Amino acid sequence: MAKLYSWLFILSASIYYYFFTCLAVSSKKNLTTDEFSLLAFKSSITLDPYHILSNWSISTSASSFSSCNWVGVTCDEHHGRVNALNLSNMGLEGNISPQLGNLSFLVVLDLHGNSFHGELPHELFQLHNRLKMLDLSNNDFVGEIPKGIGDLTQLRFVNLQYNMLTGNILMFNNSSLQYLYLGYNNMTGILPTNICLGLPNLRSLYLYANDFSGMMPNVWRDCKELEELELSKNNFDKGRIPADIGKLTKLQSLYLAKNNLEASRITECNHTLSASDLRDPEISSLIASKMKEFHNLHMPGAKKAQIWQRMRKWLNHAKSLCSQKDIINFGLDNLDAELSMLRALLSEEYQEIGFCHNDLQYGNIMMDEETRSITLIDYEYSSYNPVAYDLANHFCEMAANYHTDTPHVLDYSKYPDLEERRRFIYTYLSSEGEKPSGAQVDQLANLVEKYTLANHLFWGLWGLISSYVNTIDFDYKEYSRQRFKQYHLKKPTLLA
Ligand SMILES: *[C@@H]1O[C@H](CO)[C@@H](O)[C@H](O)[C@H]1NC(C)=O
Ligand SMILES: *[C@@H]1O[C@H](CO)[C@@H](O)[C@H](O)[C@H]1NC(C)=O
Ligand SMILES: *[C@@H]1O[C@H](CO)[C@@H](O)[C@H](O)[C@H]1NC(C)=O
Ligand SMILES: *[C@@H]1O[C@H](CO)[C@@H](O)[C@H](O)[C@H]1NC(C)=O
Ligand SMILES: *[C@@H]1O[C@H](CO)[C@@H](O)[C@H](O)[C@H]1NC(C)=O
Ligand SMILES: *[C@@H]1O[C@H](CO)[C@@H](O)[C@H](O)[C@H]1NC(C)=O
Ligand SMILES: *[C@@H]1O[C@H](CO)[C@@H](O)[C@H](O)[C@H]1NC(C)=O
Repeated sequence: MAKLYSWLFILSASIYYYFFTCLAVSSKKNLTTDEFSLLAFKSSITLDPYHILSNWSISTSASSFSSCNWVGVTCDEHHGRVNALNLSNMGLEGNISPQLGNLSFLVVLDLHGNSFHGELPHELFQLHNRLKMLDLSNNDFVGEIPKGIGDLTQLRFVNLQYNMLTGNILMFNNSSLQYLYLGYNNMTGILPTNICLGLPNLRSLYLYANDFSGMMPNVWRDCKELEELELSKNNFDKGRIPADIGKLTKLQSLYLAKNNLEASRITECNHTLSASDLRDPEISSLIASKMKEFHNLHMPGAKKAQIWQRMRKWLNHAKSLCSQKDIINFGLDNLDAELSMLRALLSEEYQEIGFCHNDLQYGNIMMDEETRSITLIDYEYSSYNPVAYDLANHFCEMAANYHTDTPHVLDYSKYPDLEERRRFIYTYLSSEGEKPSGAQVDQLANLVEKYTLANHLFWGLWGLISSYVNTIDFDYKEYSRQRFKQYHLKKPTLLA
């Protein structure tokens, strides 16, 4: 019984609806703002070869009552307002009407793969702040990108590739943008030094095949989430690869090819390694050979150990910065004597001096998947030193994983065991042809172990100073504490 009543209700309701809608249409429905905008957009389209927009009209037919049923148009259920316009790859030609900016609920605008031309109307970016996804790639747009795009705080994805856009890259203001694709345009100028400031969430930046110039800028530090950076085929000046690219711990792809950059080797280097890559026997042996090659570089400067002098300087700096409590906790007052003792002990043995990277953590090693060629990046700590020290540093880095929630926490159970160390050192020593004897491998392996002590003090001091001067979200002091702790733990056995 209840069922019958509900059927009757539905029947009468739909009759009523039908009647009402016919009435509404026949009495000349008022166009909504959205309909106005869409029809204006349609009217500036000069070619529609597949008649895609033929049913974009206000007719008397009930089915076309709402623009929400038009091809390519989607409305949100709540407000009945247009929230997506997708007319990709439809062969459309024409300008974009500024009226499109009146679609104030628009979240997605996808017009890629057409032949739209003219400038991008600035109205498009003025009215609404709901826009998340904008794809206007593969069209013929010219002129500069309207500034208003930088203020759309909801924007996540922008693809304007394959147009003929000009001007410099825009400044974004606290944008949520994650993907910014501007490749294959005619954009020019020097990349602004604060490019990353308003783009804290950026994951991919494609600027390839434009005409950007000037020094390849050291501006990437604040783009902490960056995974892909594609700057190839531009006109950047000769110079070094920006060192701060090495600070981008999430970077997986880096393309710098076909610029004027000197280090053409870098063109093949696509991604930095991960913590586990360091333990892969194949990758590890590639690194060992690369280190040997690096150590043999002829660089300016005195060919002698620099660590001791640097640690003295850092110790003085630390003492001048630290609270009395930290000076006591970290034993800074005794450290001078400790350094002298360590230096004297370590200098007793013969040791090879080479040009050392001094910070060979996994994030500073890049590898091309295909050619397996290794490139070391970020030379800010590089100097001559005993090669045993550089090897010690590399081994100590194996206790770290900077891609965790607690990147400062070191896990010394991950420190390579004797066999792994011997294997690395064997490859290192044999990479220039001559096979080392077991005794030679052991001798270097022993020395490397002793140099881990110097390495703990070095980064311990660094961490302590950083905890006072650096605002980066990393627990420097705790990191420092662990390095000092490991020093005191290992010292008795290693120096026995
Ligand atoms: C317009 O055409 C599309 C595809 O042919 C169809 O799905 C849609 O219902 C039509 N809309 C109207 C209002 O006729
Ligand atoms: C637009 O439509 C095309 C074809 O249906 C589809 O491949 C594309 O993902 C759509 N764009 C968006 C942003 O949903
Ligand atoms: C749509 O936007 C234009 C400016 O781009 C404005 O002049 C016009 O009044 C707007 N129309 C409606 C219906 O809101
Ligand atoms: C960024 O936006 C905020 C508010 O959203 C505004 O106060 C500020 O002036 C803007 N900064 C720039 C450089 O446009
Ligand atoms: C950026 O936006 C977030 C929320 O979207 C806000 O918490 C923050 O204060 C803004 N920062 C600036 C510099 O405007
Ligand atoms: C854009 O650059 C291309 C190739 O560099 C050039 O052929 C074209 O004339 C340029 N177009 C504009 C509008 O500047
Ligand atoms: C690395 O770059 C080279 C040359 O640009 C390319 O051939 C290769 O496919 C890239 N490898 C990866 C994993 O992206």
